[in-house]
Amino acid sequence: MTSTEPRKPRIVIYGTGQFGQYIARFATRKGWPIVAAYNRAGPKVGRDLGRLAGLDRDIGVIVQDCDTACYDGLDADIGVVTLSNSLTENFPGYRRLLNAGLNVICHGTAAYYPYGCDPALAAEIDALAKANNVTFSGSGIWDMSRIWAGILLAGPCTEIRSLYHSSITDTQRIGKVQMMFTGVGLTTEQFRQRFGSVNTALNTYKTIPEHVLAALGYTISADRVRVEPVVFDAPFYCRLLEREIPAGDCVGTRIVAEIETKEGPTAKAVIELRLFHDGEIEHMFWSVDGEPATRVRTERDDSAHATAACLFNRIPDVIAAPPGIVLLSQMGPMKHTALA
Ligand SMILES: NC(=O)c1ccc[n+]([C@@H]2O[C@H](COP(=O)([O-])OP(=O)(O)OC[C@H]3O[C@@H](n4cnc5c(N)ncnc54)[C@H](OP(=O)(O)O)[C@@H]3O)[C@@H](O)[C@H]2O)c1
Repeated sequence: MTSTEPRKPRIVIYGTGQFGQYIARFATRKGWPIVAAYNRAGPKVGRDLGRLAGLDRDIGVIVQDCDTACYDGLDADIGVVTLSNSLTENFPGYRRLLNAGLNVICHGTAAYYPYGCDPALAAEIDALAKANNVTFSGSGIWDMSRIWAGILLAGPCTEIRSLYHSSITDTQRIGKVQMMFTGVGLTTEQFRQRFGSVNTALNTYKTIPEHVLAALGYTISADRVRVEPVVFDAPFYCRLLEREIPAGDCVGTRIVAEIETKEGPTAKAVIELRLFHDGEIEHMFWSVDGEPATRVRTERDDSAHATAACLFNRIPDVIAAPPGIVLLSQMGPMKHTALA
């Protein structure tokens, strides 16, 4: 390494499931040191992270029980938290890592815009990060395709009346646990009984238009969010459930969020997390009704890789950011690590 090359981030992985293992593979490939790995008690604890992540060798990092491990003296720059979407569920992990003097980047969807999900807990995280002189942030696939796409699209406008965001995501690609949050396989009546009009597990999606409007300088004055079952008009075989879903039963969830601002412009998001017919392509779309009117659509073939890669590529920005909660919208567009 020459003196002009930046130091490689030294990372800790907290949560060694699907996405924690992606981070382990990326870091190993790039030669970014993995200092430690943690998970709750269970079969992952005690295993070498390299083998667990599907590499064909040990990397000398043994997964530790997060509840009994010691976090003193960790020689790392950042903890990557890949547990759950909820700030509350993740908070014990945040506290351990922030108090150990590590910056934290989290893959949970509430971490993109904590103030829109739980303002009181967001204030606590911000205070804890500042007290330890480190940064807390969230990233993942929304970074480029949902948040920055919206911000960049509005950039050329001299007038903005409204923003519109829509997307379709193939839940079978993300895995069965995540798919089941969307009600796949329920009748529409069961869907309504289970979720009513609000699915708390998916409520974080309303923060997408909120985050973009806030980044554009607007003040949110009202938000409305509801969920609806998505149905197909013909039977559909679900590979992960290993059964056919009858026509008219639930194949996913549609989240509809409508946001108002003090200054006048509004935003609407219509987000479908559902099963896909052959040939459908995952995409995220933004349009601006303004001067000029513009549109952008992002398509992708591998959303699991994409979300893990966004999280990974944000690591240097989070390490360089000031203390406290720093949103990805405050860090500039993400930069690739292809040359790293
Ligand atoms: N930011 C985004 O855009 C985005 C996109 C996709 C997914 N996500 C989110 O990313 C998160 C991780 O997804 P994943 O597929 O990697 O999940 P996963 O495979 O289930 O991995 C989660 C890991 O965390 C462990 N864990 C769960 N709760 C824990 C706790 N309280 N303390 C310590 N360890 C705990 C689990 O342990 P065991 O299973 O071994 O018990 C598991 O190893 C999910 O919340 C998902 O919704 C975010």
